[in-house]
Amino acid sequence: MKLFIDTAYMEEIEEACGWGIVDGVTTNPTHVSKIGRPPRELYADICRAVDGPVSLEVLSLEADGMVAEARELAKIADNAVIKIPIMREGLKAAKRLSAEGIKTNVTVAFSPLQALLAAKCGATYISPFVGRLDAIGHFGMEVVHQIKTIYDNYGFQTEILVAAVRHPAHVLEAALAGADVCTMNFAVMKQLYDHPLTDIGIEQFLKDWEKVPKDGCVVCENRDSGATA
Ligand code: E4P
Repeated sequence: MKLFIDTAYMEEIEEACGWGIVDGVTTNPTHVSKIGRPPRELYADICRAVDGPVSLEVLSLEADGMVAEARELAKIADNAVIKIPIMREGLKAAKRLSAEGIKTNVTVAFSPLQALLAAKCGATYISPFVGRLDAIGHFGMEVVHQIKTIYDNYGFQTEILVAAVRHPAHVLEAALAGADVCTMNFAVMKQLYDHPLTDIGIEQFLKDWEKVPKDGCVVCENRDSGATA
């Protein structure tokens, strides 16, 4: 499963990319509103910083406007993917963009039937917002399972991009459901590394190492002098 970071903060994107696990970025108007920079300039910087797709969202609510915006956003970089809201006009736009070879991320999705329509319109990605469903008492991940079944039944190529993730268990559930991508904020991405038993285990190994006689052992000498091979 690919991991995307869901943010427009350059510092977060650059740091997470340095960890070697980031496959792409998703942004949205809310993220961009926190940055205080002209969007086009910000988008160009993000696209340069990432070796992978970067989702940039249109604001128009009608198909012609979305297509016009999408064409402009797509010119920013080869890795730009255009985020289109899942509504009738959005899917009309997605179909036209797909015919033009512009990649789309159909977003703000909450039902498997919406996802079926997005796939029929050639969307590159479908983004179900699982955390927002959980927040109103639904089971967000159930929708992901249903989308997966529908896409497998008919061989749709649209990738399932699990979004609005709130905690590492969502990431785990997305992977178990067979999602293609999971996008998450910086805090959740950091949490993926954590396990208290890992910390305890490492601490114990270092403590035990102090008891090892060091004379004549190349590995020990290298380690103790901080030298690298
Ligand atoms: C995904 O592409 C969206 O930007 C994001 O996951 C929205 O989630 P939120 O509910 O955290 O705003």
